[in-house]
Amino acid sequence: MTPPASRPLIVPSVLPADFANLGEACRQLEKAGADRIQWDIMDGRFVPNLTFGPDTVASCRPLVELPFEAHLMVDDPDRLLPRWVDAGCATIIVHAEAATHLHRTLQTVRGLGVRAGVAINPATPLSLVEHVIDLVDLLLIMTVNPGFGGQAYLASQERKIAAARGLLDAAAPERNIELEVDGGITTETIDGAAQAGARTFCAGSALFRAPRGLESAVAELRRRAEEAIR
Ligand code: DX5
Repeated sequence: MTPPASRPLIVPSVLPADFANLGEACRQLEKAGADRIQWDIMDGRFVPNLTFGPDTVASCRPLVELPFEAHLMVDDPDRLLPRWVDAGCATIIVHAEAATHLHRTLQTVRGLGVRAGVAINPATPLSLVEHVIDLVDLLLIMTVNPGFGGQAYLASQERKIAAARGLLDAAAPERNIELEVDGGITTETIDGAAQAGARTFCAGSALFRAPRGLESAVAELRRRAEEAIR
């Protein structure tokens, strides 16, 4: 069951996980109380890094109940859309900067029967997505430049996060469109993102490098977010 929208969602990225044991990483994240798992899909063109294909995601699908979201940091995201659905992703997030016809791409995602998300990079204005809000279940604001984990959080994006909160609340208040942030989310930075209006937090390094393990790290991030939105 998806927790009520007001409850902050912690969505670990498996990017910092041990790629030789991704299945175990998914199991540990489920045990740690994560709300979903984000797969950072990178093609080495839209971003300099190269990560997972649909078959890797599919191999982990049967191991956990947690929903999967595919964050497509790829050129021409339309090419493999059905494969991400077949791999078991319940949400597909495409980058506005990568889709030649973003509206049609999001229509295609929804037509495949899964949740549609759109992501924008730090340099990209919110205006690039204002005409597709009716097609999305999730808006992802990047708080780092995409491609690698472990980067510093860009607090400059908090104005955009707040503007996005205003856009979503004005355009579709009844739809509870998720406002997710991704990049450099730690116990030190989550407060600012939450106070700006984010309610879903993707984190990688802060979880996998946590000295006291995943469970306490997930709980601590969620606690910090809850405190910040009180
Ligand atoms: C960047 C990735 C990362 C990842 C989270 O392209 O999208 O933001 O998910 O990595 P951390 O939490 O280490 O910044």
